[in-house]
Amino acid sequence: MTQKDTSLEFFTFPPSSMFREVKNITCVGAGYVGGPTCAMIACKCPDIRVTVVDMNAEKIAQWNSDELPIFEPGLEEVVKRQRGTNLFFSSDVPKAIREADLIFISVNTPTKMYGRGKGMAPDLKYVESVARTIAEHAGGPKIVVEKSTVPVRAAESIKTILMEAQKHNRELHFQVLSNPEFLAEGTAMKDLAKPDRVLIGGESSPEGYEAVSHLVRVYEHWVDRSRIITTNTWSSELSKLAANAFLAQRISSINAISAICEATGADVSEVAHAVGYDSRIGNKFLQASVGFGGSCFQKDVLSLVYLCESLNLGKVANYWRGVIEINDWQRRRFADKIVGELFNTVAGKKIAILGFSFKKNTGDTRESSAIYVAKHLLEECAELSFYDPKVTEAQIRSELALVSGKETVDRLVKVHSNAAQACEKAHAIVILTEWDEFKTLDYASIYKTMQHPSAIFDGRLILDKKQLREIGFRVFAIGSAPEQAYNMFGTAGCGSGGDSSPNR
Ligand SMILES: NC(=O)c1ccc[n+]([C@@H]2O[C@H](COP(=O)([O-])OP(=O)(O)OC[C@H]3O[C@@H](n4cnc5c(N)ncnc54)[C@H](O)[C@@H]3O)[C@@H](O)[C@H]2O)c1
Repeated sequence: MTQKDTSLEFFTFPPSSMFREVKNITCVGAGYVGGPTCAMIACKCPDIRVTVVDMNAEKIAQWNSDELPIFEPGLEEVVKRQRGTNLFFSSDVPKAIREADLIFISVNTPTKMYGRGKGMAPDLKYVESVARTIAEHAGGPKIVVEKSTVPVRAAESIKTILMEAQKHNRELHFQVLSNPEFLAEGTAMKDLAKPDRVLIGGESSPEGYEAVSHLVRVYEHWVDRSRIITTNTWSSELSKLAANAFLAQRISSINAISAICEATGADVSEVAHAVGYDSRIGNKFLQASVGFGGSCFQKDVLSLVYLCESLNLGKVANYWRGVIEINDWQRRRFADKIVGELFNTVAGKKIAILGFSFKKNTGDTRESSAIYVAKHLLEECAELSFYDPKVTEAQIRSELALVSGKETVDRLVKVHSNAAQACEKAHAIVILTEWDEFKTLDYASIYKTMQHPSAIFDGRLILDKKQLREIGFRVFAIGSAPEQAYNMFGTAGCGSGGDSSPNR
């Protein structure tokens, strides 16, 4: 199919009418994507009834309560406004499938933890199970939309399952579209309200074009046509993996530069500023940090690596694998830096960890860098004292128990309900999430309650180093050398500048 064939104008006049105009949307998967996306659709499309279903009845009960299961700025207002009007949350999956004109599959696709492709390939068992449920309960024509992030040609497996059902029931007609989600947690509602682009991939057939045109019309309620890109299915699936790989690569690139800065006296913020001024590069996503986290970047880059390996593209696989290796290395390097600067031992020392979610404005802790930095410090027998404004104690304990064991966590971890408490009697403060409230804490008062000398390690580059030094703190930030000895991180004493393996 040529670019011209898939242009938006083409979809304005569907050549056949296999499917009804979309009046009922069902989304299977009420998670970080399904919930906010459907809340936005309901808000922008008053003529469409949107039902979000999940096999987790407890989660659905939360969506129907005052305490939503996820935190996203702006989400609660929209859900509370639309719920019961044209937005519904239910655990009756078969009914919602039967009633839908269009079904989003928005279930999780985590990295597989068993069998072939273990630790690399995405686990597609949830997607497949939804496809089978749709096949069983559809009862009539449905446009099925892959919103989950999947490997290239996953739509083919969904289609094969649906076509089998179609063979036995002449009432059934299916078209499978790819419509990956590009929202970022923490800014999901803004991203959904004003997306950079909406991507829709479909089959090169009259029915495929028709299905695409129906989904285009849903988005056209609030998204300008020029921002709705239509492609073939495989390009759409691959574009999502490629976009996440590019974003993760940018973070690993600036983090790789941060290590050079620490060893030379350059400052990574100044370098990022200067580099970002180049309009070909741009200034976004150039913030050095303790590494990327979240449920997507690592999983999707690994999925791309696995795909390359399956296609015998070893060089390409290795190229992308490097992005993950630098990320692991950066976390390890930061933990080593903490140990090194605390005189090469943290055993029995209290260290306050501020921030546990993988980024600010979300309570999501999946693959958070905090988990891995904490794991390394617990291996050194540090006593860790946590505070995060949106992550519960139970969540922190269960994430850490998975990597460090429950006994270690029970013995060495405390969780507090405010930052000042977490920092009391600590030898060091470690910033692992860039929550705004950490920028304006009363560090002068906190300093007085700590052990001296008191250190502060800024893993997110949000603090005013000069001000903290004036208070009396020893300050260490990613991507800049400490004032007193610019090459300190590169020297043997702290053990953080060398070529330590990412998997140590
Ligand atoms: N979280 C993000 O920021 C983000 C952004 C873009 C894309 N994605 C992709 O979107 C997909 C969903 O991600 P998420 O973060 O919303 O996941 P999530 O884990 O928050 O939610 C997935 C939900 O699907 C439900 N589910 C699984 N199998 C089911 C089944 N057979 N029937 C009914 N419900 C079922 C689970 O109970 C869970 O509530 C993933 O593929 C992810 O890679 C996520």
